[in-house]
Amino acid sequence: MKTLTNKNILLGVSGSIAAYKAPNIVRRLQDLGAQVRVVVTQAGLRFVTELSLQVTSKHKVHHNLWDKEAELSMGHIELAKWADVILIAPASANTLANLASGKANDLLSSIVLASDCPMLVAPAMNQQMYAAEYVQTNLSKLIKRQVAVIQPDNGEQACGDIGEGRLAESLEIAQQVGAIFQNTALTGKKVLITLGATVEAIDPVRYISNHSSGKMGSALADACIEAGAKVTLVHGNISAHLNQKATAISALSAGEMYQTVMDNIAECDIFIACAAVSDYYIKNIEKNKIKKSDKALTLALAPTKDILKAVCQLSQKPLCIGFAAETENLTKNAKNKLKNKGCDAIILNDISNLDFGFKSDENEVLFLTEKKSIKIEKNSKKKIARKIVEILSSNIL
Ligand SMILES: Cc1cc2nc3c(=O)[nH]c(=O)nc-3n(C[C@H](O)[C@H](O)[C@H](O)COP(=O)(O)O)c2cc1C
Repeated sequence: MKTLTNKNILLGVSGSIAAYKAPNIVRRLQDLGAQVRVVVTQAGLRFVTELSLQVTSKHKVHHNLWDKEAELSMGHIELAKWADVILIAPASANTLANLASGKANDLLSSIVLASDCPMLVAPAMNQQMYAAEYVQTNLSKLIKRQVAVIQPDNGEQACGDIGEGRLAESLEIAQQVGAIFQNTALTGKKVLITLGATVEAIDPVRYISNHSSGKMGSALADACIEAGAKVTLVHGNISAHLNQKATAISALSAGEMYQTVMDNIAECDIFIACAAVSDYYIKNIEKNKIKKSDKALTLALAPTKDILKAVCQLSQKPLCIGFAAETENLTKNAKNKLKNKGCDAIILNDISNLDFGFKSDENEVLFLTEKKSIKIEKNSKKKIARKIVEILSSNIL
């Protein structure tokens, strides 16, 4: 059965330039089996025609709170009752502000107030607008009220800017709607994930680090949250966006990360060590900036504590999943790591292939346990993460 079979989705379309993509969102929701009805704001109608929304949804499009005929047939209260889910895509900055402040000054916001069904918003706006404190505060308010935010993509925008704020892909939006009906695999579970690159100071200015972006860990956090888990993220240096439903704790050096994990691991059911942790730290960090000289400089390095191993050795250890980023003898090295650390599974990344891994949005991994080896083919990190969560919640471990 498709994930949205027999589900009624009310699609709210607001006045973002991305509203022209709304008919495509309707189609992708229908592909998953949903019945879709559309409510569009007056500003939304400037970017997409009523007719294209009507033809794709196969229903009358609603856009006027004061429509006498609509109120007689399917008025705003009926629409609110009809919906199993309200999806607002694209969600403009103005509509987000309306929803966050509980306004009911148009059809869409009135329906939202009259409904208690799950709601998702997919923001779409200029990157500067999206980063604005007002917008972020409004999103935080909505998240606190259990509204799911479909993260916008990062990339080139209609206005020519490059950054975060572009409407997520239609398929991704439809899948996230589907996911709220599907996934309760990790409900009640606590998951701690480390992510990003640790940073080892040399002096007050310089440091040793690595290329990890935190994207895989952030995608895993999204997938665990989607599956109902409570997630704590302990992160080093990252460029990835973190899910606002997770508790995020910054821990830059390997030493800080070790301590932060140990302080937060109690009562966790699953530990995923996704951070790229430095194997060494600088023994004597200089208090003052090291001056340039013609002489060679030798830095004394000492080994850092092994976070994954330490968690695996706890008397009440959670399910422990490690990551192995390898460039040679891939499976052999990963299997050694699985044994040496004493963890339940290792996720192997081949970082010699520059097409994916580290900074990329894509990955291809091998999920290894003592007895099994499951290849997860090249795909977006979001999809790889969902697959990993699917494996974790099956009885495979
Ligand atoms: C050409 C143009 C493009 C716009 N694109 C966006 C956008 O992508 N996101 C956004 O939040 N607002 C955008 N706006 C501004 C909104 O349309 C405006 O704030 C409007 O009041 C939103 O109304 P609504 O939330 O009721 O749909 C745009 C305006 C214009 C003129």
